[in-house]
Amino acid sequence: MSTQSLYKVPGDIAANALINNEQYKKMYQESIVNPDGFWREQGKRIDWIKPYTKIKQTSFDDKDLSINWFYDGTLNASANCLDRHLADGSDKIAIIWEGDDARDQRTLTYGQLHDQVCRFANVLRSQGVCRGDVVTIYMPMVPETAVAMLACARIGAIHSVVFGGFSPDSIASRVNDGQSRVIITADEGVRGGRSIPLKHNVDLALEHPDVQCVEKVIVLKRTGSDIYWVEGRDIWWHSLMELASEHCPPEEMGAEDPLFLLYTSGSTGNPKGVLHTTGGYLVYAAMSHEYVFDYKPGEVYWCTADVGWITGHSYMVYGPFANGATVLMHEGVPNYPSPARLGEMIDRHKVNILYTAPTLVRALMAEGKEHFEEYDGSSLRIMGSVGEPINPEAWRWYHEVIGHEHCPIVDTWWQTETGGILITPLPGATDTKPGSATRPFFGVKPALVDNQGNILEGANEGNLVLLDSWPGQMRTIYGDHDRFVLTYFKTFRGMYFTGDGARRDEDGYYWITGRVDDVINVSGHRLGTAEVESALVAHEKVAEAAVVGYPHDIKGQGIYAYVTLIHDTEPSEELRQELRQWVRKEIGALATPDLIQWASGLPKTRSGKIMRRFLRKIAANEVTNLGDASTLADPAVIDTLIESRLNRS
Ligand code: WTA
Repeated sequence: MSTQSLYKVPGDIAANALINNEQYKKMYQESIVNPDGFWREQGKRIDWIKPYTKIKQTSFDDKDLSINWFYDGTLNASANCLDRHLADGSDKIAIIWEGDDARDQRTLTYGQLHDQVCRFANVLRSQGVCRGDVVTIYMPMVPETAVAMLACARIGAIHSVVFGGFSPDSIASRVNDGQSRVIITADEGVRGGRSIPLKHNVDLALEHPDVQCVEKVIVLKRTGSDIYWVEGRDIWWHSLMELASEHCPPEEMGAEDPLFLLYTSGSTGNPKGVLHTTGGYLVYAAMSHEYVFDYKPGEVYWCTADVGWITGHSYMVYGPFANGATVLMHEGVPNYPSPARLGEMIDRHKVNILYTAPTLVRALMAEGKEHFEEYDGSSLRIMGSVGEPINPEAWRWYHEVIGHEHCPIVDTWWQTETGGILITPLPGATDTKPGSATRPFFGVKPALVDNQGNILEGANEGNLVLLDSWPGQMRTIYGDHDRFVLTYFKTFRGMYFTGDGARRDEDGYYWITGRVDDVINVSGHRLGTAEVESALVAHEKVAEAAVVGYPHDIKGQGIYAYVTLIHDTEPSEELRQELRQWVRKEIGALATPDLIQWASGLPKTRSGKIMRRFLRKIAANEVTNLGDASTLADPAVIDTLIESRLNRS
């Protein structure tokens, strides 16, 4: 193995880890050669009401697609996350919660969480929610959000969590797609010292003429501020909970019954409702949480992701709770009120495992090490990274300043669609290289293919695909199975296409190079450029828009928009601000364009297709070697765009 920039597994970690390198190799081999035998054993890590006898029935052939795991077994996800831990003592801490204001502290034991979930499950039933119904959750980072999710799981309802940063329009389209009759929200959220008008956003979403399905809005009182109230539709969380019984036997669900929906962006069209089912997802989330973070009973685990993203689902709720872990949940952002907050929280709660995103690491790095002078950090053992490629500089800073050079970093590559981590180091098994997600997890068969779908061997670079199914895989796009087959299984026949590019080095390590489609990754938040474009063209003064990502020091990628205004409209700074606000209102703050370049024309082929590769290069300020422009209808457009480009760094 090349030793250049290799970080060896620390000896003490390897000696005590759940999985060392020998075990990794043996188990990985077995998982690939004998998946049925491997997963038959792993499936036992969760409790089944009726044990499975069937393990895997899967095919990636687009004509005969099928994905079924543990499919004759029955179980309940909430019982696995709660009831089964009560035997070891209901006093074990499930959630340590710290508010945006650090003076707000709460803890919930497994016993208390169980009690709350059972009550809230009965609340949902009292509001007419039945097995199979979709319930929308638009909540801040408070324990009640986990309660709401697990309560849905308890009665077999399908939760659809919408990230609290999304706009009323984005809520409306998701609510409608799932035909939710019930929305769970809070009066306000609190983040970074500001309040977020969650209930107000729901009110606006429900004014949308297309949204007819919602009958009830359950509102948690978080800040107590004045809110608009619709009698008969809106109901307080606490008044319902007071009346609810704490007795609620879990519903017996089939392994392949839906557990949740989570909307995510693709390269075209509206966000897709990614559907995950119960048995395989839970086995995969629990197993990957345990092995990837080398989780040992009693350890304090902190995932900084918002529960509105897949990381919050798999590695703040389902994986850790299935393992009986103690989870630190933070309402706000880890660099507020100062960059020291992250270190203070690690020390205050004696965090053993930290899972965060490169964008936070870069933001802290930009603020300087001095904020960590008081930080002790001796509790910390393992650190994770997720959501986007981590640049080696940020990796090293994370390792040195947060991990004090003794904590292995697990750079975990995965997607909303994959349900759990697929390519990652294991702390006790894998020597790491900054910037590489390293090796496949158990049961995962990655490959690189060229644009024709030919498998590339050895050290190489290409499109990242997966050759076989794993239990945590999504099963369909809610309400649009054809789009599921088309998006993931038709580009390369017989393979799942991730949309990412990757390089494999001479040691077989994978380096994710980023999306090869029109999805961008802004501060670890996934966005389709098409969504931002359609928001822009919905503005009355915009004739045409093309959006691309460009390298951004903190966010990883920034949003660069080329906008053509309608005839006779003068560009101005005011209009630029207006368009930024407009996109914010249409989608949410995370989609706000960083740079808007006025473009009198866009580079198009003679048949009218926008040649985005030119736009990407100009946005990245790579203007010396643009490639062949001869297929353009009007090659002169390029020079004009180059001249007035905005990113000259
Ligand atoms: C990117 C987040 C490099 C990738 C869990 C993927 C990463 C997309 C990594 C999925 C990583 C995620 N290294 N890139 N460790 N983790 N990505 O659905 O482009 O929000 O396809 O899931 O994020 O984003 P999603």
